[in-house]
Amino acid sequence: MQKLIIEGEKRLYGEALVQGAKNSALPLLAACLLCEGETLLHNCPKLSDVYAACRILGCLGCECRAQGNDITVRADAPCGCCVPDDLMREMRSSIVFLGAVLGRTGECSLSFPGGCELGPRPIDMHLAALRRMGAEITERHGVLRCTCPTGLKGTGIILPFPSVGATENIILAAALAEGTTVIKNAAREPEIADLCCFLRACGARIIGEGSDTVVIEGVGSLQGCEYTVMPDRIVAATLMSAAAITGGEVSLIGARSSDLDAVIPVFEEMGCRIYTCPDRLFITRKLPLSSVRTVRTMPYPGFPTDAQALVTAVLAKAKGTSIIVENIFENRFRHVDELVRMGARIKAEGKVAVIDGVPKLYGAKVRASDLRGGAALAVAALAAEGVTEIGNVGFIDRGYEALERQLSSLGASASRECKI
Ligand code: UD1
Repeated sequence: MQKLIIEGEKRLYGEALVQGAKNSALPLLAACLLCEGETLLHNCPKLSDVYAACRILGCLGCECRAQGNDITVRADAPCGCCVPDDLMREMRSSIVFLGAVLGRTGECSLSFPGGCELGPRPIDMHLAALRRMGAEITERHGVLRCTCPTGLKGTGIILPFPSVGATENIILAAALAEGTTVIKNAAREPEIADLCCFLRACGARIIGEGSDTVVIEGVGSLQGCEYTVMPDRIVAATLMSAAAITGGEVSLIGARSSDLDAVIPVFEEMGCRIYTCPDRLFITRKLPLSSVRTVRTMPYPGFPTDAQALVTAVLAKAKGTSIIVENIFENRFRHVDELVRMGARIKAEGKVAVIDGVPKLYGAKVRASDLRGGAALAVAALAAEGVTEIGNVGFIDRGYEALERQLSSLGASASRECKI
């Protein structure tokens, strides 16, 4: 049982390096399956989900070596097509292997990912798109079996909603498919652009990423390459939240401000000043924290759902009332009850949370219930009077390389307690 122990009311000051993006590293690792020869990925975050992805590659017959933040994958050996159930359960986003395994072998068997802490996580759009490309898919006893008797074929696909995972799966399946695939209403997240850049560097023919129409012309083969994973925009938003709530002054090295266009104005409205350069972002807050106009989570380029909990934590201590509308996931206010234990005044009902800022938060024993919700508790703890103990740290570790060390390097009093 591990806990994060944070003693609050310390102003954060200094420089922090933003780690590589988990949500980019995972589809990139899946994409390695499609490549001949060796692929070297730099800047992979050292996270349990990334290592789970490496184990999936291993089960599929790839050689996979991790050294620091570099991961080398060699996918020349005959490729298996079954992703074991325990690895599917360990990491919900392993569904991104479906498109890659199908693209590589023409068949795939994996267990249905089911729900997760954010509520039901259906994959109907992934499956409908792959069926349109020629996959035959059956589900029995929670196991999906997919085959492509006549191979995957490029086609036109209109997504009913710009799903990130579905867009990634289609791109992965289409890269080696016969003919051209056109995805309309594609997700536009920067991590999708990163996947397309990587695949192009391997020889794929893709245009349009970052817009709502992505066109993939299938090629005969892809060649492994050397590539650097993009910086994690949600880790950047986490450190911005930490600086904002403590009235700090922090320089985020590697943060790409262009990925944070919807986030930066919210922090400015809260009273922060932000200066950006191409490869770093500087944030400081000298003014009192103030409430903001309604924040609505939306698909990119809108305000990211993954930053919602973090901003809620900061607004809990802002003067005035703020409203947050969560439009992407059904069950994404579970951090609210824990913030209330710390003295916050927040009411959440359905997709709306109303935050009445309080002058003081207080340390308490709280529990993380999902990744970003857990990080939000750490953000609140940084500004709380007294000591906060955050349980269920495993959730936070899924997305942050030792968050307590990064916060301590900026002057926070944060440590990890390990009890057997
Ligand atoms: C990805 C990110 C996650 C982020 C989310 C939204 C990864 C590993 N995870 O998750 O951190 O919060 O994007 O930006 O990159 N949906 C369906 N049917 C489908 C697919 C999705 O109904 O077939 C629904 C989902 O339940 C959800 C919404 O669409 O309500 C968005 O999901 P999606 O964009 O697919 O998110 P993920 O790819 O799962």
